[in-house]
Amino acid sequence: MNETASFRPLSLLLFGFALLLAACSPSGAGDPPLKGASIGGPFTLTDQDGRRVSDTAFKGKYRLFYFGFTYCPDVCPVDLQVIGQGLRQIEKSDPDIAAKVQPIFISVDPERDTPAVIKQYVAAFHPRLIGLTGTPAEIKDVTKRFGVYSAKQGQEGAKDYLVDHSRITLLFGPGGEPIAIVPHEKGAGGIAEELKRWVK
Ligand code: NI
Repeated sequence: MNETASFRPLSLLLFGFALLLAACSPSGAGDPPLKGASIGGPFTLTDQDGRRVSDTAFKGKYRLFYFGFTYCPDVCPVDLQVIGQGLRQIEKSDPDIAAKVQPIFISVDPERDTPAVIKQYVAAFHPRLIGLTGTPAEIKDVTKRFGVYSAKQGQEGAKDYLVDHSRITLLFGPGGEPIAIVPHEKGAGGIAEELKRWVK
C-alpha cells in the first residue's frame, strides 16, 4: 500500500458529504446530468420531405435525438418504438410536456437513407418524429458534434452492409443545451419519466 492511500477515506467522506448536500438542495431534481457537456451544436441537414433544416428550427423546443439507420435489423426499430410509446404515454398523461418535445431521428447511413426512405420509416414510430439525413460529410460532422460513434461494417462498395453505431437517446433543451441521456432501455415508462423530470 502506498502512502497516498491513507488520504482516501477522507476524500471519500468529503465526496459523500457533497452528494448529501446536493440531494438536499431545494431544486429537487438537481442539475441535468449533461449540463455543460460539450456535445451538440449547430447543424443543417435534410428532412424526410427534402427540406433543409437547421438546429435553429427547433428553438424553444426540447429535442429528443436518436441516431441510427433505417436498414438496422433490430436495435434501431426496437429503440424507436420505445421512444414512440414513451411519447404517446406522456401525450396522454401530460400533454403540455409532450407538446414541448420534438423527437428527431438522425441517420448514420446517408448513402441509403434518402429523404423518401426516411419518410416511410419515421412514420412507423411516431407521427411527430422528424427524420434527418444529409451528405456523408454533414452526417460525419453532426455525429462528431453529438459524440455519436458510427462505422460502416463489411466490404467497401458492398450494397448490403450494416452500420455499427452508438445506442443512445439524448435530450437537449430549448436552447440546444445538453440535458440527459434518456434511458430507452427502461421502456416507454422510463422515457416518459425522464421527460417529466426535465421538461419544464
Ligand atoms: Ni441501429
